[in-house]
Amino acid sequence: ANRLACHVAGLPLPNPVMPASGTFDYHPDVRTPVDVARLGALIPKSITLHPQPGNPPSRLAETPAGLINSIGIPSPGLAAFQDKFRSVYGGVPCPLVISVAGYSPDEYAQLTQACSRWPEVVAIELNLSCPNLKTHLMPAQDPILLRDAVQAARAATVKPLWAKLSPNVTTIAPMAAIAHDAGADAVVAINTIRAMAINIERQKAILGHFTGGLSGPAILPIGLSMVWDIAQHTSVPVIGCGGIRTVDDALMYLMAGASAVQVGTATFAHPAAMMDIINGLDRYLADQGIAQIADIIGIAKPA
Ligand code: DOR
Repeated sequence: ANRLACHVAGLPLPNPVMPASGTFDYHPDVRTPVDVARLGALIPKSITLHPQPGNPPSRLAETPAGLINSIGIPSPGLAAFQDKFRSVYGGVPCPLVISVAGYSPDEYAQLTQACSRWPEVVAIELNLSCPNLKTHLMPAQDPILLRDAVQAARAATVKPLWAKLSPNVTTIAPMAAIAHDAGADAVVAINTIRAMAINIERQKAILGHFTGGLSGPAILPIGLSMVWDIAQHTSVPVIGCGGIRTVDDALMYLMAGASAVQVGTATFAHPAAMMDIINGLDRYLADQGIAQIADIIGIAKPA
């Protein structure tokens, strides 16, 4: 029996470990230390409706506190993505989740509808929380924008919808509840935290976009508390993301209430991180005599 088999809001996955969108790219001809057939799911970089180049360089700053990116979602646009879909993802050996980023509810709807039609696609992730776009607010930072984007996407598909939330809010559980009420089957918490770095000798921002999003180990305790808050205060299934490097990190998120986890920044320094976490989870369950992942979700007790 596969101890790692799990569900996210009723959607069966072979295991609860997947890349955070934008941090692991897949092409059938390219060999990587990641055995895609062993992933719980694959989530490529967010796609936008129209082609866009992303932000000016530099787009990455490695700081003592962690990685800050200001990439800005470079995207070939929906039409080009559709053209290459079959050749790239036609034989994808694990469940495929497509991440989409819109600039309006109608764009989320168009992207969601178009990406739902492929049988390989088991869910759509709505990226509502990129901190690097030239928009006043991310949809995940505003109750109305969030509701309207999720509702529009909901009306455009019958497939599972995941809403990726922002940590850049006063309190995240109400945003998770709003996404759930608007039709999201699950939420993903968290995207990166708005951040900045300055080169003092040159008296210049390090990033071309000035600000970016902080990721890596620094944000693990923050993501963990937000997953906990969502699990405590809402009934929406949550996928944990933020600073996960090791199996222990993944176990913390599961015990805080996450149904699954996403691994991002860790893959840059250690390409096999997701494989190690999958192996480690299996070993942990076997050693502890735990039959299935579901048995550890949300089991963290008071200190
Ligand atoms: O930190 C992030 N960077 N989060 C996103 O959702 C998108 C990405 C980018 O391309 O800027």
